[in-house]
Amino acid sequence: MRLQHHLKECCRLWDGQREITAMNYQTDCLIIGSGAAGLTLALGLAQRAKVIVLSKEEACAGSTNYAQGGIAGVYNTLDDEDSIESHIKDTCIAGAGLCDEDTVRFVATQARSAIQWLIDIGVPFDRKEEAPGEGQSPYHLHREGGHSHRRIFHAEDHTGRSIQETLVERARENPNITLLEHRNAVDLITTTKLGLPGNRVVGCYVLNVSSGEVDTIQAQFVALCTGGASKVYQYTCNPEVSSGDGIAMAWRAGCRVANMEFNQFHPTTLYCQADRNFLLTEALRGEGAQLKRPDGTRFMQNYDERLELAPRDIVARAIDHEMKRLGAPCMYLDISFKEHEFVKKHFPTIYERCLKVGVDISAEPIPIVPAAHFTCGGIMVDRRARTDIQNLYAIGECAYTGLHGANRLASNSLLECVVYGKAAAEDILTQLPCGYEHIDLPEWDASKVTDSDEEVIITHNWQELRLTMWDYVGIVRTDKRLQRALHRIRLLEREVNEYYSNFRVTKNLLELRNLLQVAHIIVASAMRRHESRGLHFTLDYPGQKERTGPTILTRQDLLLEAAGN
Ligand code: FAD
Ligand code: SIN
Repeated sequence: MRLQHHLKECCRLWDGQREITAMNYQTDCLIIGSGAAGLTLALGLAQRAKVIVLSKEEACAGSTNYAQGGIAGVYNTLDDEDSIESHIKDTCIAGAGLCDEDTVRFVATQARSAIQWLIDIGVPFDRKEEAPGEGQSPYHLHREGGHSHRRIFHAEDHTGRSIQETLVERARENPNITLLEHRNAVDLITTTKLGLPGNRVVGCYVLNVSSGEVDTIQAQFVALCTGGASKVYQYTCNPEVSSGDGIAMAWRAGCRVANMEFNQFHPTTLYCQADRNFLLTEALRGEGAQLKRPDGTRFMQNYDERLELAPRDIVARAIDHEMKRLGAPCMYLDISFKEHEFVKKHFPTIYERCLKVGVDISAEPIPIVPAAHFTCGGIMVDRRARTDIQNLYAIGECAYTGLHGANRLASNSLLECVVYGKAAAEDILTQLPCGYEHIDLPEWDASKVTDSDEEVIITHNWQELRLTMWDYVGIVRTDKRLQRALHRIRLLEREVNEYYSNFRVTKNLLELRNLLQVAHIIVASAMRRHESRGLHFTLDYPGQKERTGPTILTRQDLLLEAAGN
């Protein structure tokens, strides 16, 4: 059995009320998260290392599975006179002056090999209908907002699902990879926390969601691949697992976190009471879909000369502005001028999903609203995905590499996951075996807590936090709104921290604690940026500063700030 590779012992403890069974595991590398980032790393390492991959729900439950548009990359310059330079330029323009150009160059240059790797492991990207000309690539490419060329590889409109399922299949057939589902990482264990010299990660406490017990996993390397934090907002197209856990864990362990004020709102999610969070890919606009007011008139010409294909921050703000100006609950996206067969063939998932709620997208405009979509900031890492803590890596949406700047260019995220997953695997392999001295990790101490008697506190605070973030820290901000949000977050933090000290941990409690921490970092970062740039737009500072840089925060900064108040 694969688990035997890792299982050190199973110890029985008595906590005064019941017998509990906590597990101890050991592995070369613990990967927290089974999306594109986590599984790219796992497959890269598994040639020479034993790996445990954790997933909070089923292996396919992360954002990767929901990606529609695709993965950006210049694969063949003969196709469309496209170039890596052009991909770099588009990324930097979307990033509104805050991208790290070396990082952008690194990622854009690695795109071809990253996409080839996905093709090699079996991802079924769409091919052109007609035979390609000599030297041309056989793949069909989409175009999305901010891209000056067609360069998005896709599998119909369910690219994420195809990538996620292929990665999971490859991981499940690999004997060096153990995939543990329904495991919720609670906190990192570092030498600092144990009172030992240095600041190295040595493992993690993990809640087994099915049994309710907290296991201990000892690892030479740990990688946070936990995805974004968009669930901090009331309306989001992200799945349940996007609660910023990795960012919060790294923060508590002492890592720097950058650019958290830049939350991307996707302009077009379905507006429908029954299905509020469903995304309508930008590729629809890439095929000519137009944004319209309820009276059928277009409005993007009033906001940007690139019209519907302007970068996302601009389109989302335009929609938000029109909705507020007209008091309308939604705007509309119209692709009904295209042939019925074209729409059904290129966007089958969207066609079927909308039809279920009574909208035939090939015949009528689709009601849309913006929703929280992507966390541009995250845990600071270098080119090899190393964080500030020795042997701790962060990859994918939870990381800040400098690629996205103040606004991510469409379809650059899956690319970042694969490029950095591969870079981290190479880096870790050069360090194995490490030959560290064995450390006896303390078991999770549940002796002083009891089962919660008021679960309602969690649900209530959860709703309050997400609504506060939506109302005060959304697409348009002001100093006053941010102050209001901070005040409420601090009150909620006090309540939830007390609850955390007294009651047994549950998945909901852990997520709420992490969301509060991330919300606090978002607000603190937003308060420090006295300008409007990319996704951070504030009525109090509508202009842009000439000189700017990323907003970098540590836990120490906020502790000092709280002590000063
Ligand atoms: P995820 O895929 O989100 O995976 C996170 C993993 O971490 C999950 O396995 C989760 O269970 C696990 N996890 C989280 N917390 C814990 C914990 N405490 N303990 C254990 N496990 C944990 N990007 C593009 O480039 N192109 C697109 O077309 C595109 N479309 C998108 C459409 C939608 C609807 C959404 C939501 C996003 C889209 N994105 C797109 C963004 C992109 O999908 C994500 O940024 C990317 O997939 C993130 O991958 P990841 O591996 O970092 O995280
Ligand atoms: C989309 O398909 O519109 C989403 C693409 C992305 O978020 O990169």
